[in-house]
Amino acid sequence: MRTPIIAGNWKMHKTLPEAIEACRRLEEMVEDAKAEVVVCAPFTALSALKALGLNKIKLGAQNMHFAREGAFTGEVSPLMLRDVGMDYVIIGHSERREIFGETDEMVNSKTLAALDHGIDPIVCVGESLDQRKAGETEPLVKGQIQTAFDGIGAAEAVKVVVAYEPIWAIGTGETATAEQAQEVNAMIRATLAEIYDHETAEAIRIQYGGSVKPANITELMDKEDIDGALVGGASLKPEDFAAIVKY
Ligand code: 13P
Repeated sequence: MRTPIIAGNWKMHKTLPEAIEACRRLEEMVEDAKAEVVVCAPFTALSALKALGLNKIKLGAQNMHFAREGAFTGEVSPLMLRDVGMDYVIIGHSERREIFGETDEMVNSKTLAALDHGIDPIVCVGESLDQRKAGETEPLVKGQIQTAFDGIGAAEAVKVVVAYEPIWAIGTGETATAEQAQEVNAMIRATLAEIYDHETAEAIRIQYGGSVKPANITELMDKEDIDGALVGGASLKPEDFAAIVKY
Protein backbone atom coordinates (compact mmCIF):
# COMPACT_ATOMS: atom_id res chain seq x y z
CA MET A 1 0.00 0.00 0.00
CA ARG A 2 1.25 3.45 -0.90
CA THR A 3 1.06 6.02 1.92
CA PRO A 4 -0.65 9.16 0.58
CA ILE A 5 1.62 12.20 0.52
CA ILE A 6 0.31 15.76 0.57
CA ALA A 7 3.00 18.38 0.04
CA GLY A 8 2.70 22.15 0.17
CA ASN A 9 4.85 24.18 -2.20
CA TRP A 10 5.00 27.66 -0.73
CA LYS A 11 6.96 29.00 -3.72
CA MET A 12 8.39 32.48 -3.04
CA HIS A 13 6.07 33.27 -0.13
CA LYS A 14 6.41 33.84 3.62
CA THR A 15 8.92 35.67 5.74
CA LEU A 16 10.56 33.79 8.60
CA PRO A 17 8.01 34.76 11.28
CA GLU A 18 5.15 33.92 8.89
CA ALA A 19 6.70 30.55 8.07
CA ILE A 20 7.16 29.62 11.72
CA GLU A 21 3.62 30.66 12.62
CA ALA A 22 2.13 28.72 9.69
CA CYS A 23 4.01 25.51 10.55
CA ARG A 24 3.10 25.71 14.24
CA ARG A 25 -0.59 26.11 13.42
CA LEU A 26 -0.52 23.44 10.74
CA GLU A 27 1.21 20.94 13.06
CA GLU A 28 -1.65 21.26 15.58
CA MET A 29 -4.26 20.73 12.89
CA VAL A 30 -2.73 17.73 11.09
CA GLU A 31 -1.24 15.80 14.02
CA ASP A 32 -3.62 12.86 13.60
CA ALA A 33 -3.78 12.87 9.77
CA LYS A 34 -3.20 9.58 7.98
CA ALA A 35 -1.36 11.12 5.03
CA GLU A 36 2.30 12.04 5.11
CA VAL A 37 2.54 15.85 5.29
CA VAL A 38 5.35 17.87 3.74
CA VAL A 39 5.97 21.63 3.69
CA CYS A 40 8.38 22.90 1.03
CA ALA A 41 9.40 26.33 2.28
CA PRO A 42 11.82 28.96 0.94
CA PHE A 43 15.53 28.28 1.68
CA THR A 44 15.67 31.14 4.17
CA ALA A 45 13.16 29.45 6.48
CA LEU A 46 14.39 25.85 6.34
CA SER A 47 16.80 25.68 9.27
CA ALA A 48 14.49 27.65 11.57
CA LEU A 49 11.57 25.37 10.68
CA LYS A 50 13.77 22.32 11.31
CA ALA A 51 14.65 23.74 14.73
CA LEU A 52 10.94 23.76 15.68
CA GLY A 53 11.22 19.97 16.07
CA LEU A 54 7.91 19.32 14.33
CA ASN A 55 6.63 15.75 14.65
CA LYS A 56 4.07 15.33 11.90
CA ILE A 57 5.25 17.81 9.30
CA LYS A 58 8.23 16.82 7.18
CA LEU A 59 10.24 19.52 5.46
CA GLY A 60 11.43 20.03 1.94
CA ALA A 61 13.21 22.55 -0.27
CA GLN A 62 11.87 23.74 -3.63
CA ASN A 63 15.03 23.37 -5.69
CA MET A 64 18.73 22.60 -5.43
CA HIS A 65 21.86 22.41 -7.58
CA PHE A 66 23.18 18.95 -8.47
CA ALA A 67 26.80 19.60 -7.47
CA ARG A 68 27.96 18.97 -3.91
CA GLU A 69 29.82 22.29 -3.82
CA GLY A 70 31.55 24.66 -6.22
CA ALA A 71 31.60 28.03 -7.95
CA PHE A 72 27.84 28.34 -8.53
CA THR A 73 26.93 31.73 -7.13
CA GLY A 74 23.48 31.82 -5.60
CA GLU A 75 22.89 28.07 -5.69
CA VAL A 76 22.22 25.64 -2.83
CA SER A 77 23.67 22.13 -2.84
CA PRO A 78 22.29 18.73 -1.78
CA LEU A 79 24.92 18.61 0.95
CA MET A 80 23.59 21.91 2.35
CA LEU A 81 20.00 20.64 2.29
CA ARG A 82 21.04 17.49 4.09
CA ASP A 83 22.87 19.70 6.57
CA VAL A 84 19.60 21.38 7.55
CA GLY A 85 17.80 18.03 7.76
CA MET A 86 15.59 18.16 4.67
CA ASP A 87 13.48 15.07 3.98
CA TYR A 88 12.40 16.14 0.50
CA VAL A 89 13.31 18.45 -2.36
CA ILE A 90 11.11 19.48 -5.29
CA ILE A 91 12.93 18.94 -8.58
CA GLY A 92 12.00 20.30 -12.00
CA HIS A 93 8.91 22.30 -11.09
CA SER A 94 7.44 23.79 -14.27
CA GLU A 95 8.31 27.28 -13.00
CA ARG A 96 11.98 26.18 -12.81
CA ARG A 97 11.74 24.64 -16.26
CA GLU A 98 9.93 27.59 -17.88
CA ILE A 99 11.45 30.59 -16.10
CA PHE A 100 14.91 29.28 -15.27
CA GLY A 101 15.49 27.02 -18.25
CA GLU A 102 15.84 23.69 -16.47
CA THR A 103 16.07 20.78 -18.88
CA ASP A 104 15.12 17.11 -18.48
CA GLU A 105 18.84 16.34 -18.19
CA MET A 106 19.27 18.81 -15.30
CA VAL A 107 16.23 17.29 -13.62
CA ASN A 108 17.90 13.88 -13.93
CA SER A 109 21.22 15.15 -12.48
CA LYS A 110 19.37 16.77 -9.56
CA THR A 111 17.28 13.66 -8.91
CA LEU A 112 20.43 11.50 -8.80
CA ALA A 113 22.17 14.02 -6.53
CA ALA A 114 19.25 14.20 -4.09
CA LEU A 115 19.11 10.39 -3.80
CA ASP A 116 22.90 10.27 -3.32
CA HIS A 117 22.49 12.58 -0.34
CA GLY A 118 19.54 10.78 1.24
CA ILE A 119 16.96 13.41 0.29
CA ASP A 120 13.80 12.12 -1.40
CA PRO A 121 13.07 14.00 -4.64
CA ILE A 122 9.59 15.14 -5.66
CA VAL A 123 10.02 15.19 -9.44
CA CYS A 124 7.56 17.39 -11.34
CA VAL A 125 6.38 16.66 -14.87
CA GLY A 126 3.55 18.05 -16.96
CA GLU A 127 2.47 19.61 -20.23
CA SER A 128 1.47 23.13 -21.29
CA LEU A 129 -1.97 23.95 -22.68
CA ASP A 130 -0.61 24.11 -26.25
CA GLN A 131 1.03 20.72 -25.83
CA ARG A 132 -2.21 19.23 -24.48
CA LYS A 133 -4.21 20.71 -27.35
CA ALA A 134 -1.70 19.30 -29.82
CA GLY A 135 -2.15 15.81 -28.32
CA GLU A 136 1.44 15.76 -27.07
CA THR A 137 0.74 15.08 -23.38
CA GLU A 138 1.55 11.38 -23.41
CA PRO A 139 4.84 11.42 -25.38
CA LEU A 140 6.02 14.55 -23.55
CA VAL A 141 5.33 13.33 -20.01
CA LYS A 142 6.63 9.88 -20.87
CA GLY A 143 9.90 11.41 -22.10
CA GLN A 144 10.18 13.58 -18.97
CA ILE A 145 9.80 10.45 -16.79
CA GLN A 146 12.24 8.36 -18.84
CA THR A 147 14.96 11.02 -18.63
CA ALA A 148 14.32 11.87 -14.97
CA PHE A 149 14.77 8.21 -13.91
CA ASP A 150 17.76 7.54 -16.18
CA GLY A 151 20.51 5.73 -14.25
CA ILE A 152 18.42 5.26 -11.11
CA GLY A 153 18.10 1.67 -9.86
CA ALA A 154 14.80 0.21 -8.64
CA ALA A 155 15.83 0.32 -4.97
CA GLU A 156 16.33 4.09 -5.23
CA ALA A 157 13.45 4.75 -7.64
CA VAL A 158 10.87 3.80 -5.01
CA LYS A 159 12.04 6.75 -2.90
CA VAL A 160 11.16 9.20 -5.67
CA VAL A 161 7.77 10.90 -5.59
CA VAL A 162 6.44 11.98 -8.99
CA ALA A 163 4.17 15.03 -9.21
CA TYR A 164 2.06 15.35 -12.35
CA GLU A 165 1.36 19.06 -12.68
CA PRO A 166 -0.28 20.18 -15.93
CA ILE A 167 1.05 23.71 -16.43
CA TRP A 168 -2.36 25.00 -17.53
CA ALA A 169 -3.81 24.06 -14.13
CA ILE A 170 -1.17 25.77 -11.97
CA GLY A 171 -2.39 28.90 -10.22
CA THR A 172 -5.18 29.30 -12.76
CA GLY A 173 -8.06 27.93 -10.70
CA GLU A 174 -8.57 25.47 -13.52
CA THR A 175 -8.05 21.97 -12.10
CA ALA A 176 -7.60 18.99 -14.35
CA THR A 177 -10.63 16.80 -13.86
CA ALA A 178 -9.99 13.80 -11.65
CA GLU A 179 -10.34 11.66 -14.81
CA GLN A 180 -7.73 13.69 -16.72
CA ALA A 181 -5.31 13.48 -13.79
CA GLN A 182 -5.92 9.74 -13.33
CA GLU A 183 -5.32 9.11 -17.02
CA VAL A 184 -1.89 10.73 -16.99
CA ASN A 185 -0.93 9.29 -13.60
CA ALA A 186 -1.79 5.79 -14.87
CA MET A 187 0.33 6.41 -17.96
CA ILE A 188 3.22 7.52 -15.72
CA ARG A 189 2.89 4.31 -13.70
CA ALA A 190 2.84 2.24 -16.89
CA THR A 191 6.02 4.03 -18.02
CA LEU A 192 7.68 3.24 -14.67
CA ALA A 193 6.64 -0.41 -15.09
CA GLU A 194 8.35 -0.41 -18.52
CA ILE A 195 11.53 1.10 -17.06
CA TYR A 196 11.54 -1.11 -13.95
CA ASP A 197 8.88 -3.73 -13.26
CA HIS A 198 5.29 -3.91 -12.05
CA GLU A 199 6.20 -4.14 -8.36
CA THR A 200 8.51 -1.10 -8.46
CA ALA A 201 5.95 0.96 -10.39
CA GLU A 202 3.26 0.03 -7.84
CA ALA A 203 5.49 1.26 -5.00
CA ILE A 204 6.22 4.72 -6.46
CA ARG A 205 3.90 7.49 -5.30
CA ILE A 206 2.46 9.77 -7.95
CA GLN A 207 0.88 13.07 -6.91
CA TYR A 208 -1.35 15.46 -8.82
CA GLY A 209 -0.77 19.23 -8.62
CA GLY A 210 -2.60 22.23 -10.07
CA SER A 211 -5.30 24.24 -8.28
CA VAL A 212 -5.85 21.57 -5.61
CA LYS A 213 -8.32 22.89 -3.01
CA PRO A 214 -10.29 21.47 -0.07
CA ALA A 215 -13.26 21.25 -2.48
CA ASN A 216 -11.61 19.00 -5.07
CA ILE A 217 -9.09 16.88 -3.10
CA THR A 218 -11.48 14.01 -2.24
CA GLU A 219 -12.44 13.39 -5.83
CA LEU A 220 -8.78 13.38 -6.88
CA MET A 221 -7.67 11.08 -4.05
CA ASP A 222 -10.43 8.61 -4.91
CA LYS A 223 -8.59 7.77 -8.12
CA GLU A 224 -6.47 4.65 -8.18
CA ASP A 225 -3.22 6.20 -9.39
CA ILE A 226 -3.39 9.51 -7.52
CA ASP A 227 -1.38 9.04 -4.33
CA GLY A 228 -1.28 12.59 -3.09
CA ALA A 229 -1.14 16.24 -4.05
CA LEU A 230 1.41 18.99 -4.55
CA VAL A 231 -0.41 22.11 -3.42
CA GLY A 232 0.60 25.69 -4.23
CA GLY A 233 -1.74 28.56 -3.35
CA ALA A 234 -3.97 26.63 -0.96
CA SER A 235 -0.96 25.48 1.10
CA LEU A 236 -0.28 29.06 2.22
CA LYS A 237 -3.27 29.08 4.57
CA PRO A 238 -2.86 26.46 7.33
CA GLU A 239 -6.65 25.94 7.59
CA ASP A 240 -7.02 25.20 3.87
CA PHE A 241 -3.92 23.03 3.74
CA ALA A 242 -5.04 21.07 6.83
CA ALA A 243 -8.42 20.47 5.20
CA ILE A 244 -6.65 19.10 2.12
CA VAL A 245 -4.37 16.90 4.24
CA LYS A 246 -7.43 15.49 6.03
CA TYR A 247 -9.45 15.05 2.81
P1 13P B 1 -1.46 25.92 -7.32
O1 13P B 1 -1.96 24.91 -6.31
O2 13P B 1 -1.38 27.30 -6.77
O3 13P B 1 -2.19 25.80 -8.61
O4 13P B 1 0.07 25.50 -7.63
C1 13P B 1 0.37 24.20 -7.96
C2 13P B 1 1.84 24.03 -7.92
O5 13P B 1 2.55 24.54 -8.77
C3 13P B 1 2.41 23.23 -6.84
O6 13P B 1 3.75 22.94 -7.08
